[in-house]
Amino acid sequence: MCGGCGRGRSIGSGSEARDDGKGRHTGRNSRVTPRPAQQAESLRHVKKLSIIGGGSWGTALAIVLAPRFPVVRLWVYETDLASRMRASRENDVFLPGYQLPSHVEVTNELAVALEGAEVVLSVMPSHLVRTLYRQMLPFLNDSMVFVSATKGLENGSLLRASEVIREVLQNRMDPRVAVISGPTFAREVAGFEPTALVVASPDAALSECVQAAFSGPAFRLYASQDSIGVEIGGSIKNVVAIGAGVLHGLGLGYNASAALITRGLAEMTRLAVAMGGRAQTLSGLAGLGDLVLTCTGDLSRNRTVGVELAHGRKLDEIVSSMKMVAEGIKTTNAAVDLARRYSVEMPISEQMFQMLHFGISPREAIQRLMERSLKGE
Ligand SMILES: NC(=O)c1ccc[n+]([C@@H]2O[C@H](COP(=O)([O-])OP(=O)(O)OC[C@H]3O[C@@H](n4cnc5c(N)ncnc54)[C@H](O)[C@@H]3O)[C@@H](O)[C@H]2O)c1
Repeated sequence: MCGGCGRGRSIGSGSEARDDGKGRHTGRNSRVTPRPAQQAESLRHVKKLSIIGGGSWGTALAIVLAPRFPVVRLWVYETDLASRMRASRENDVFLPGYQLPSHVEVTNELAVALEGAEVVLSVMPSHLVRTLYRQMLPFLNDSMVFVSATKGLENGSLLRASEVIREVLQNRMDPRVAVISGPTFAREVAGFEPTALVVASPDAALSECVQAAFSGPAFRLYASQDSIGVEIGGSIKNVVAIGAGVLHGLGLGYNASAALITRGLAEMTRLAVAMGGRAQTLSGLAGLGDLVLTCTGDLSRNRTVGVELAHGRKLDEIVSSMKMVAEGIKTTNAAVDLARRYSVEMPISEQMFQMLHFGISPREAIQRLMERSLKGE
Protein backbone atom coordinates (compact mmCIF):
# COMPACT_ATOMS: atom_id res chain seq x y z
CA MET A 1 0.00 0.00 0.00
CA CYS A 2 1.93 3.04 1.08
CA GLY A 3 4.61 4.20 3.43
CA GLY A 4 5.37 7.57 4.92
CA CYS A 5 2.41 7.79 7.26
CA GLY A 6 4.57 7.66 10.34
CA ARG A 7 3.14 9.70 13.18
CA GLY A 8 6.55 11.16 13.91
CA ARG A 9 6.91 12.51 10.38
CA SER A 10 4.05 14.76 9.51
CA ILE A 11 0.79 13.42 10.81
CA GLY A 12 -1.25 16.16 12.42
CA SER A 13 1.14 18.86 11.40
CA GLY A 14 -1.18 20.45 8.87
CA SER A 15 -1.90 24.14 8.87
CA GLU A 16 -5.62 23.97 8.27
CA ALA A 17 -7.46 27.14 9.25
CA ARG A 18 -9.93 26.30 12.01
CA ASP A 19 -12.91 28.04 13.39
CA ASP A 20 -13.02 28.54 17.12
CA GLY A 21 -16.81 28.32 17.20
CA LYS A 22 -17.19 32.09 17.37
CA GLY A 23 -16.39 32.80 13.75
CA ARG A 24 -12.68 33.43 14.32
CA HIS A 25 -10.04 31.50 12.45
CA THR A 26 -7.31 29.86 14.45
CA GLY A 27 -4.24 28.12 13.10
CA ARG A 28 -3.97 24.43 13.86
CA ASN A 29 -0.22 24.61 14.12
CA SER A 30 -0.45 26.29 17.51
CA ARG A 31 -1.74 23.14 19.23
CA VAL A 32 0.26 20.49 17.42
CA THR A 33 2.49 18.42 19.62
CA PRO A 34 5.33 16.37 18.17
CA ARG A 35 4.54 12.68 18.00
CA PRO A 36 6.94 10.26 19.71
CA ALA A 37 8.95 8.23 17.22
CA GLN A 38 8.06 4.99 18.98
CA GLN A 39 4.40 5.66 18.18
CA ALA A 40 5.20 5.75 14.52
CA GLU A 41 2.62 3.84 12.54
CA SER A 42 2.22 3.31 8.86
CA LEU A 43 -0.75 2.35 6.76
CA ARG A 44 1.65 0.27 4.69
CA HIS A 45 0.74 -2.88 6.58
CA VAL A 46 -2.74 -1.84 7.58
CA LYS A 47 -5.08 -4.79 7.79
CA LYS A 48 -7.91 -3.93 10.12
CA LEU A 49 -10.71 -1.64 9.03
CA SER A 50 -13.62 -0.77 11.30
CA ILE A 51 -16.64 0.86 9.74
CA ILE A 52 -18.94 2.62 12.15
CA GLY A 53 -22.41 2.96 10.67
CA GLY A 54 -24.22 0.31 8.66
CA GLY A 55 -26.60 2.48 6.64
CA SER A 56 -26.48 2.54 2.85
CA TRP A 57 -23.09 4.20 2.62
CA GLY A 58 -21.33 2.26 5.39
CA THR A 59 -22.56 -1.01 3.87
CA ALA A 60 -21.46 -0.02 0.36
CA LEU A 61 -18.05 0.99 1.70
CA ALA A 62 -17.72 -2.37 3.47
CA ILE A 63 -18.42 -4.12 0.16
CA VAL A 64 -16.04 -2.05 -1.99
CA LEU A 65 -13.21 -1.92 0.58
CA ALA A 66 -13.41 -5.56 1.67
CA PRO A 67 -10.99 -6.76 -1.05
CA ARG A 68 -8.42 -4.26 0.31
CA PHE A 69 -8.54 -5.30 3.99
CA PRO A 70 -8.23 -8.82 5.44
CA VAL A 71 -10.20 -7.77 8.52
CA VAL A 72 -13.33 -5.63 8.11
CA ARG A 73 -15.76 -5.02 10.97
CA LEU A 74 -19.04 -3.23 10.36
CA TRP A 75 -20.89 -1.72 13.31
CA VAL A 76 -24.64 -1.61 12.82
CA TYR A 77 -26.84 0.36 15.22
CA GLU A 78 -29.99 -1.73 14.94
CA THR A 79 -29.58 -5.03 16.86
CA ASP A 80 -32.15 -6.90 14.79
CA LEU A 81 -30.67 -5.71 11.51
CA ALA A 82 -27.17 -6.73 12.66
CA SER A 83 -28.30 -10.30 13.36
CA ARG A 84 -30.16 -10.55 10.07
CA MET A 85 -27.08 -9.25 8.25
CA ARG A 86 -24.91 -11.88 9.92
CA ALA A 87 -27.26 -14.60 8.69
CA SER A 88 -28.24 -13.36 5.22
CA ARG A 89 -25.13 -11.24 4.40
CA GLU A 90 -27.49 -8.55 3.17
CA ASN A 91 -28.55 -5.16 4.59
CA ASP A 92 -32.25 -5.54 3.85
CA VAL A 93 -33.13 -2.12 5.30
CA PHE A 94 -30.60 0.30 3.87
CA LEU A 95 -29.01 -1.50 0.91
CA PRO A 96 -31.10 -4.48 -0.19
CA GLY A 97 -29.85 -6.60 -3.06
CA TYR A 98 -26.10 -6.49 -2.34
CA GLN A 99 -24.13 -9.25 -0.61
CA LEU A 100 -21.51 -8.54 2.03
CA PRO A 101 -18.25 -10.43 1.42
CA SER A 102 -17.91 -13.38 3.80
CA HIS A 103 -15.05 -11.90 5.84
CA VAL A 104 -16.95 -8.70 6.77
CA GLU A 105 -17.87 -9.18 10.44
CA VAL A 106 -21.12 -7.48 11.41
CA THR A 107 -21.54 -6.45 15.03
CA ASN A 108 -23.82 -4.31 17.15
CA GLU A 109 -21.14 -3.71 19.81
CA LEU A 110 -18.73 -0.80 19.49
CA ALA A 111 -16.10 -2.54 21.64
CA VAL A 112 -16.06 -5.49 19.26
CA ALA A 113 -16.14 -3.31 16.15
CA LEU A 114 -13.19 -1.20 17.29
CA GLU A 115 -10.95 -3.83 18.84
CA GLY A 116 -7.54 -3.69 17.15
CA ALA A 117 -8.79 -1.25 14.47
CA GLU A 118 -6.10 0.51 12.47
CA VAL A 119 -8.45 2.57 10.35
CA VAL A 120 -11.76 3.77 11.80
CA LEU A 121 -14.10 4.78 8.98
CA SER A 122 -17.10 6.63 10.37
CA VAL A 123 -20.23 6.72 8.24
CA MET A 124 -22.97 8.03 10.50
CA PRO A 125 -25.38 10.89 9.75
CA SER A 126 -24.00 14.29 10.81
CA HIS A 127 -26.32 14.77 13.80
CA LEU A 128 -24.96 11.55 15.35
CA VAL A 129 -21.21 12.14 14.99
CA ARG A 130 -20.68 13.68 18.43
CA THR A 131 -22.85 11.18 20.30
CA LEU A 132 -21.30 8.18 18.61
CA TYR A 133 -17.69 9.35 18.99
CA ARG A 134 -18.33 9.92 22.70
CA GLN A 135 -19.59 6.34 22.94
CA MET A 136 -16.60 5.11 20.94
CA LEU A 137 -14.03 7.03 23.00
CA PRO A 138 -13.19 4.26 25.52
CA PHE A 139 -12.24 1.97 22.62
CA LEU A 140 -10.12 4.44 20.63
CA ASN A 141 -6.39 5.07 20.76
CA ASP A 142 -3.66 7.23 19.34
CA SER A 143 -2.46 4.67 16.82
CA MET A 144 -5.76 4.66 14.91
CA VAL A 145 -6.40 6.69 11.78
CA PHE A 146 -9.88 8.24 11.53
CA VAL A 147 -11.63 8.71 8.21
CA SER A 148 -14.99 10.49 8.10
CA ALA A 149 -17.44 9.76 5.28
CA THR A 150 -20.24 11.84 6.81
CA LYS A 151 -21.70 14.64 4.72
CA GLY A 152 -23.25 17.43 6.72
CA LEU A 153 -22.64 19.97 9.43
CA GLU A 154 -23.48 19.88 13.12
CA ASN A 155 -26.37 22.21 13.86
CA GLY A 156 -25.65 24.66 16.67
CA SER A 157 -21.86 24.36 16.66
CA LEU A 158 -21.79 24.59 12.81
CA LEU A 159 -18.77 22.31 12.87
CA ARG A 160 -17.80 19.99 10.04
CA ALA A 161 -17.80 16.28 10.90
CA SER A 162 -13.99 16.13 11.07
CA GLU A 163 -13.98 19.06 13.49
CA VAL A 164 -16.55 17.37 15.72
CA ILE A 165 -14.38 14.24 15.75
CA ARG A 166 -11.30 16.28 16.71
CA GLU A 167 -13.23 18.11 19.40
CA VAL A 168 -14.42 14.88 21.02
CA LEU A 169 -11.01 13.19 20.84
CA GLN A 170 -8.65 16.07 21.52
CA ASN A 171 -8.42 15.65 25.30
CA ARG A 172 -7.29 12.07 24.82
CA MET A 173 -5.10 12.32 21.72
CA ASP A 174 -4.10 14.45 18.77
CA PRO A 175 -6.13 12.45 16.27
CA ARG A 176 -5.19 11.87 12.64
CA VAL A 177 -8.40 12.65 10.72
CA ALA A 178 -9.11 12.50 7.00
CA VAL A 179 -12.40 12.91 5.14
CA ILE A 180 -13.74 11.26 2.01
CA SER A 181 -16.38 12.76 -0.25
CA GLY A 182 -17.44 12.93 -3.87
CA PRO A 183 -20.13 11.78 -6.30
CA THR A 184 -20.86 8.39 -4.76
CA PHE A 185 -24.32 6.85 -4.79
CA ALA A 186 -24.08 3.87 -2.44
CA ARG A 187 -25.81 1.42 -4.80
CA GLU A 188 -23.40 2.11 -7.65
CA VAL A 189 -20.38 1.75 -5.35
CA ALA A 190 -21.74 -1.54 -3.98
CA GLY A 191 -22.18 -2.72 -7.57
CA PHE A 192 -18.50 -1.93 -8.28
CA GLU A 193 -19.41 0.67 -10.89
CA PRO A 194 -16.50 3.06 -11.56
CA THR A 195 -16.49 5.79 -8.91
CA ALA A 196 -14.03 8.61 -8.20
CA LEU A 197 -13.87 10.61 -4.99
CA VAL A 198 -11.55 12.73 -2.88
CA VAL A 199 -9.73 12.01 0.36
CA ALA A 200 -8.61 15.12 2.19
CA SER A 201 -6.58 15.98 5.23
CA PRO A 202 -4.39 18.98 5.99
CA ASP A 203 -1.77 16.30 6.52
CA ALA A 204 -0.74 15.39 2.95
CA ALA A 205 0.95 12.15 4.02
CA LEU A 206 -2.23 10.97 5.70
CA SER A 207 -4.49 11.67 2.71
CA GLU A 208 -2.02 9.94 0.38
CA CYS A 209 -1.90 6.90 2.64
CA VAL A 210 -5.69 6.62 2.83
CA GLN A 211 -5.76 7.11 -0.94
CA ALA A 212 -3.42 4.17 -1.41
CA ALA A 213 -5.19 2.00 1.14
CA PHE A 214 -8.74 2.58 -0.20
CA SER A 215 -8.23 2.81 -3.99
CA GLY A 216 -9.18 -0.21 -6.07
CA PRO A 217 -10.19 -1.08 -9.63
CA ALA A 218 -13.65 0.51 -9.29
CA PHE A 219 -12.95 3.03 -6.54
CA ARG A 220 -10.46 5.76 -7.35
CA LEU A 221 -9.44 8.34 -4.78
CA TYR A 222 -7.76 11.68 -5.44
CA ALA A 223 -5.77 13.18 -2.57
CA SER A 224 -6.24 16.72 -1.30
CA GLN A 225 -5.18 18.79 1.69
CA ASP A 226 -8.36 20.86 1.68
CA SER A 227 -10.73 19.16 4.09
CA ILE A 228 -12.65 22.43 4.53
CA GLY A 229 -13.49 22.62 0.81
CA VAL A 230 -14.27 18.91 0.62
CA GLU A 231 -16.59 18.90 3.64
CA ILE A 232 -18.34 22.14 2.73
CA GLY A 233 -18.89 20.86 -0.83
CA GLY A 234 -20.30 17.56 0.45
CA SER A 235 -22.62 19.36 2.84
CA ILE A 236 -23.99 22.33 0.90
CA LYS A 237 -24.64 20.34 -2.29
CA ASN A 238 -27.43 18.57 -0.41
CA VAL A 239 -29.16 21.92 0.16
CA VAL A 240 -28.90 22.84 -3.52
CA ALA A 241 -30.23 19.37 -4.41
CA ILE A 242 -33.47 20.13 -2.59
CA GLY A 243 -33.80 23.12 -4.94
CA ALA A 244 -33.09 20.91 -7.95
CA GLY A 245 -35.89 18.60 -6.82
CA VAL A 246 -38.23 21.57 -6.50
CA LEU A 247 -37.50 22.59 -10.11
CA HIS A 248 -38.15 19.07 -11.33
CA GLY A 249 -41.31 18.74 -9.23
CA LEU A 250 -42.65 22.02 -10.62
CA GLY A 251 -42.11 20.72 -14.14
CA LEU A 252 -39.46 23.31 -14.97
CA GLY A 253 -36.84 22.57 -17.59
CA TYR A 254 -33.12 22.21 -18.15
CA ASN A 255 -32.43 25.97 -18.24
CA ALA A 256 -33.55 26.30 -14.65
CA SER A 257 -31.59 23.22 -13.53
CA ALA A 258 -28.39 24.39 -15.19
CA ALA A 259 -28.77 27.83 -13.61
CA LEU A 260 -29.39 26.35 -10.16
CA ILE A 261 -26.38 24.04 -10.35
CA THR A 262 -24.13 26.87 -11.52
CA ARG A 263 -25.32 29.40 -8.97
CA GLY A 264 -25.33 26.68 -6.30
CA LEU A 265 -21.69 26.04 -7.06
CA ALA A 266 -20.95 29.77 -6.76
CA GLU A 267 -22.64 29.82 -3.35
CA MET A 268 -20.82 26.72 -2.09
CA THR A 269 -17.52 28.12 -3.29
CA ARG A 270 -18.05 31.51 -1.62
CA LEU A 271 -18.71 29.85 1.72
CA ALA A 272 -15.83 27.37 1.47
CA VAL A 273 -13.36 30.12 0.55
CA ALA A 274 -14.59 32.37 3.38
CA MET A 275 -14.01 29.46 5.77
CA GLY A 276 -10.45 28.88 4.55
CA GLY A 277 -11.03 26.32 1.78
CA ARG A 278 -9.79 26.50 -1.81
CA ALA A 279 -12.03 27.48 -4.74
CA GLN A 280 -10.31 24.80 -6.84
CA THR A 281 -11.62 22.07 -4.53
CA LEU A 282 -15.18 23.13 -5.22
CA SER A 283 -14.70 22.71 -8.95
CA GLY A 284 -13.53 19.14 -8.33
CA LEU A 285 -15.21 15.86 -7.44
CA ALA A 286 -16.27 16.86 -3.93
CA GLY A 287 -17.85 20.09 -5.21
CA LEU A 288 -19.12 20.25 -8.77
CA GLY A 289 -18.93 16.46 -9.19
CA ASP A 290 -21.16 15.72 -6.22
CA LEU A 291 -23.42 18.67 -6.96
CA VAL A 292 -24.16 17.44 -10.48
CA LEU A 293 -24.81 13.92 -9.19
CA THR A 294 -27.15 15.02 -6.42
CA CYS A 295 -29.02 17.56 -8.52
CA THR A 296 -29.62 15.27 -11.47
CA GLY A 297 -29.62 11.69 -10.15
CA ASP A 298 -32.89 9.96 -9.32
CA LEU A 299 -31.19 8.16 -6.42
CA SER A 300 -30.72 11.45 -4.54
CA ARG A 301 -32.80 11.64 -1.38
CA ASN A 302 -32.41 15.39 -1.00
CA ARG A 303 -33.59 15.97 -4.55
CA THR A 304 -36.54 13.67 -3.81
CA VAL A 305 -37.46 15.84 -0.81
CA GLY A 306 -37.62 18.87 -3.15
CA VAL A 307 -39.72 16.97 -5.72
CA GLU A 308 -42.20 15.92 -3.04
CA LEU A 309 -42.43 19.43 -1.59
CA ALA A 310 -43.15 20.78 -5.07
CA HIS A 311 -45.91 18.17 -5.36
CA GLY A 312 -47.51 19.68 -2.28
CA ARG A 313 -46.53 17.18 0.40
CA LYS A 314 -45.64 18.48 3.86
CA LEU A 315 -42.06 18.20 5.10
CA ASP A 316 -42.98 16.17 8.22
CA GLU A 317 -44.88 13.69 6.12
CA ILE A 318 -41.99 13.33 3.66
CA VAL A 319 -39.40 12.84 6.41
CA SER A 320 -41.48 10.30 8.32
CA SER A 321 -41.99 8.25 5.16
CA MET A 322 -38.21 7.99 4.56
CA LYS A 323 -36.11 5.24 6.17
CA MET A 324 -32.93 7.04 5.23
CA VAL A 325 -31.54 10.42 6.17
CA ALA A 326 -31.82 13.40 3.84
CA GLU A 327 -28.90 15.40 5.25
CA GLY A 328 -29.84 18.52 3.28
CA ILE A 329 -32.80 19.31 5.52
CA LYS A 330 -30.68 19.80 8.65
CA THR A 331 -27.75 21.20 6.68
CA THR A 332 -29.97 24.03 5.37
CA ASN A 333 -30.14 25.48 8.89
CA ALA A 334 -26.38 25.30 9.33
CA ALA A 335 -25.78 26.77 5.86
CA VAL A 336 -27.87 29.82 6.65
CA ASP A 337 -26.11 30.29 10.01
CA LEU A 338 -22.69 29.95 8.38
CA ALA A 339 -23.67 32.45 5.67
CA ARG A 340 -24.44 34.97 8.42
CA ARG A 341 -21.32 34.17 10.41
CA TYR A 342 -19.04 34.62 7.42
CA SER A 343 -21.07 37.41 5.78
CA VAL A 344 -21.45 35.40 2.60
CA GLU A 345 -24.48 35.59 0.32
CA MET A 346 -26.16 32.19 -0.01
CA PRO A 347 -29.50 32.96 -1.64
CA ILE A 348 -30.38 29.38 -2.64
CA SER A 349 -29.74 28.10 0.90
CA GLU A 350 -31.73 31.04 2.29
CA GLN A 351 -34.75 30.29 0.10
CA MET A 352 -34.57 26.57 0.89
CA PHE A 353 -34.54 27.52 4.57
CA GLN A 354 -37.57 29.77 4.12
CA MET A 355 -39.38 27.00 2.25
CA LEU A 356 -38.53 24.23 4.73
CA HIS A 357 -39.13 26.17 7.92
CA PHE A 358 -41.26 29.23 7.21
CA GLY A 359 -43.79 27.79 4.83
CA ILE A 360 -43.08 29.79 1.68
CA SER A 361 -44.20 27.76 -1.30
CA PRO A 362 -41.68 26.04 -3.61
CA ARG A 363 -42.85 28.25 -6.48
CA GLU A 364 -42.37 31.39 -4.40
CA ALA A 365 -38.87 30.28 -3.36
CA ILE A 366 -37.87 30.02 -7.03
CA GLN A 367 -39.57 33.31 -7.86
CA ARG A 368 -37.67 35.08 -5.07
CA LEU A 369 -34.38 33.78 -6.47
CA MET A 370 -35.26 35.15 -9.90
CA GLU A 371 -36.32 38.54 -8.55
CA ARG A 372 -33.28 39.31 -6.40
CA SER A 373 -31.42 42.51 -7.18
CA LEU A 374 -29.34 42.14 -10.33
CA LYS A 375 -25.73 41.04 -9.85
CA GLY A 376 -22.51 40.67 -11.75
CA GLU A 377 -21.47 37.08 -12.29
N1 LIG B 1 -25.96 6.87 0.85
C1 LIG B 1 -25.04 7.43 0.09
O1 LIG B 1 -25.04 7.20 -1.12
C2 LIG B 1 -23.99 8.32 0.70
C3 LIG B 1 -22.87 8.62 -0.04
C4 LIG B 1 -21.88 9.43 0.51
C5 LIG B 1 -22.05 9.92 1.80
N2 LIG B 1 -23.15 9.62 2.51
C6 LIG B 1 -23.24 10.16 3.87
O2 LIG B 1 -23.00 9.12 4.80
C7 LIG B 1 -23.70 9.39 6.02
C8 LIG B 1 -24.53 8.18 6.37
O3 LIG B 1 -25.53 8.07 5.38
P1 LIG B 1 -26.20 6.71 4.96
O4 LIG B 1 -26.74 6.95 3.59
O5 LIG B 1 -25.33 5.54 5.15
O6 LIG B 1 -27.38 6.63 6.03
P2 LIG B 1 -28.79 5.90 5.90
O7 LIG B 1 -29.84 6.93 5.78
O8 LIG B 1 -28.73 4.84 4.85
O9 LIG B 1 -28.93 5.21 7.29
C9 LIG B 1 -29.06 5.91 8.48
C10 LIG B 1 -27.99 5.44 9.41
O10 LIG B 1 -28.14 6.05 10.68
C11 LIG B 1 -28.04 5.03 11.67
N3 LIG B 1 -28.74 5.45 12.87
C12 LIG B 1 -30.03 5.84 13.00
N4 LIG B 1 -30.26 6.17 14.29
C13 LIG B 1 -29.12 5.99 14.96
C14 LIG B 1 -28.72 6.19 16.31
N5 LIG B 1 -29.55 6.66 17.23
N6 LIG B 1 -27.45 5.93 16.65
C15 LIG B 1 -26.57 5.49 15.74
N7 LIG B 1 -26.88 5.27 14.43
C16 LIG B 1 -28.14 5.53 14.07
C17 LIG B 1 -28.65 3.83 11.01
O11 LIG B 1 -28.28 2.67 11.66
C18 LIG B 1 -28.03 3.93 9.63
O12 LIG B 1 -26.72 3.45 9.65
C19 LIG B 1 -24.52 10.65 5.76
O13 LIG B 1 -23.81 11.77 6.26
C20 LIG B 1 -24.60 10.72 4.24
O14 LIG B 1 -24.77 12.03 3.76
C21 LIG B 1 -24.13 8.82 2.00
